[in-house]
Amino acid sequence: MERLAHIIETQQFTVKWLEEDFFPLVDKMKKMLNSKGIIAYLRYFFARRALTGKNVVEFFFGASTRTMLTFQFAVAQLNGNNFATDNAGISSSAVKGESLRDTIKIISGYRTTDVIVLRTAIAQKEKGMNLKEAVPFSTKPIINAGDRNEQHPTQTLIDLYTIKKEKGRIAGLTIGLGGDIGGSRTVKSLIYVAAKYPGTSFIFISPQMARIPEEIKDHLRENRVEFREVYDIKEVAHLLDVYYVVRMQVDESNVVQDGGRNLTPNYGPPAYWKTSQIVRDRLSSDAIIMHPLPRTQNELPYNTDEDFRSRYFEQAINGEPVRMALLLTVIKNKHRKKFLKNTNPLSF
Ligand code: CP
Repeated sequence: MERLAHIIETQQFTVKWLEEDFFPLVDKMKKMLNSKGIIAYLRYFFARRALTGKNVVEFFFGASTRTMLTFQFAVAQLNGNNFATDNAGISSSAVKGESLRDTIKIISGYRTTDVIVLRTAIAQKEKGMNLKEAVPFSTKPIINAGDRNEQHPTQTLIDLYTIKKEKGRIAGLTIGLGGDIGGSRTVKSLIYVAAKYPGTSFIFISPQMARIPEEIKDHLRENRVEFREVYDIKEVAHLLDVYYVVRMQVDESNVVQDGGRNLTPNYGPPAYWKTSQIVRDRLSSDAIIMHPLPRTQNELPYNTDEDFRSRYFEQAINGEPVRMALLLTVIKNKHRKKFLKNTNPLSF
């Protein structure tokens, strides 16, 4: 039997697959979404029906606006069928204590299911529900749509695609990551794959309680990827090609266990990561400002929206074509074959 094209962690992705197969496929999906008229109708006649007869189960324990909706839009754009449960934490049999392992075994066992898109929630870890442990019990591909404070690989595909489109390249860029980066699954996921591009370097900007975990720093050291850690974005803003800022992860991070004290950090030197006017004055004119959203005013005040370098709304909009391309990758033969050939097997 052919290996399933699960999308679980960004260590799976390679530069070759991203650049040669995935990004061109996203470009095609974007063109298709933006096209109108009879010529476009005929050109994309078959592409628009690529998921005909395919059934995608979106099973979300954790809250979501963008990920849930764009997966549903992506399925609808390709003529597939959506079966969404967006409140699984209170409406599924997990309430009765069913494990994630059994949930996955049951959903994937139904003949109707073709793909499972799954978002977990932080409380599941405490109940022994772990996405990685459940994956081997699935007989259908699983797409990780945000796993507690572990990984969010589909967000990373959106982030990398956006950087590539806006900057023309990913290799050689200096990427600043600011905010609660220790508790952010999008940051963790982004680092593992952006670090594979030659010459990419990172500057981490966070309070003491939200520093990048040692295991990620060790990974960067082992792979000779340059990084440094600072407390104040103002010191380094001028060096950045990309400033990627995240909110305090009050729902997913261990920071909350500290009572949120790091919001006005009492630990270590004072930290500053907000995209204030002072910071924006220091960013270079060709830098871009990104955020996976949702945001708070603590890191990304509304007046940043008027800054010509802001790209977080474009980033969110890219979610639709990226998730269309991803569904084709896990379902369709041609793209699935390239994915299985040109990416790394799961590391667990
Ligand atoms: N960026 C992101 O995953 O947003 P949602 O939580 O709204 O899906």
